[in-house]
This record gives sequence, C-alpha cells and structure tokens, in this order.
Amino acid sequence: MLIADNLWGLSALVLLVTGVMRAFAGFEKGTDYYLHQPLFHLKMTLFVLILLLELAPMITLIKWRIARGRGGAVDTGRAKLFARISHVEALLVLLMVVAATGMARGVTFA
Ligand code: HEM
Repeated sequence: MLIADNLWGLSALVLLVTGVMRAFAGFEKGTDYYLHQPLFHLKMTLFVLILLLELAPMITLIKWRIARGRGGAVDTGRAKLFARISHVEALLVLLMVVAATGMARGVTFA
C-alpha cells in the first residue's frame, strides 16, 4: 500500500509539473487561453479538491512510515475510510480527464 501511495505521489508531481509547463510556459495555447477557459477552472478545482481530500491520508501515512521506521506499531483504524477517500479521488481524476479533453478542444458554454 505504501508503494502504491509513493507511485500516486510521483504521478501527481509529474502531472503538476508538466501541467503547469503546458499551461503557463508557452508549450500549448498560452496562459491567456487557459485563464479564460471555464473547463480549465473546473479541472483546477477538481485538482484542488483531490489535494484537500488527500491531506488527512497523506499526514497519516507519513506518521505510519515514521512509526514503521522506528519499528513501532501502526494504527490502521482509519484504513477503510482512506480506501473510500481514494475511490472518490479516482472518480475526480476521471472527471479531470473529461474536463481536460473539453478544454483542449476549446469547448465553452457561451
Ligand atoms: C490529475 C491531474 C491531471 C490529469 C488527469 C490531467 C489530464 C490531462 C489530459 C488527459 C490532457 C490531454 C487533453 C487532450 O489533449 O485531449 C491534459 C492536457 C493539459 N493539461 Fe492536464 N491533467 C492533470 C493536471 C494538470 C495540471 C495540474 C495542469 C495545470 C496547472 C494541467 C494543464 C494541462 C494543459 C495546459 C493541457 C493542454 C491542453 C491543450 O492541449 O490545450 N493539467 N491534461
């Protein structure tokens, strides 16, 4: 589970760095386009929601890693809750992909 968590973290970092470069470093349609594209705002809102949902699991998993490193016991009492949170996060990532494709194709609601 901790390996999977590391891979999700790495994936989030890569998507964040490449995403910011694509949006604001002139690789795609330019900063102005994205700042005025409603689906970009939706995509970023979903991204922030995922980050907020991930706060508690992330902090707890850091504590678990520290406890394991010291050879101590880990309280897995909230593991089920974290699994449920991951499912919600996975759904939000899927919605981000939908928003991204609409944003890339210039879909607006005007
Ligand atoms: C979980 C995180 C993310 C997912 C799943 C995701 C998904 C995608 C996908 C599927 C595309 C391709 C759209 C297409 O060409 O049809 C895309 C493009 C793009 N993404 Fe992301 N993205 C993520 C994070 C970010 C972040 C954090 C940013 C910016 C801060 C960003 C900015 C962009 C930009 C600028 C494009 C190019 C759109 C275009 O072709 O005009 N992405 N993303």
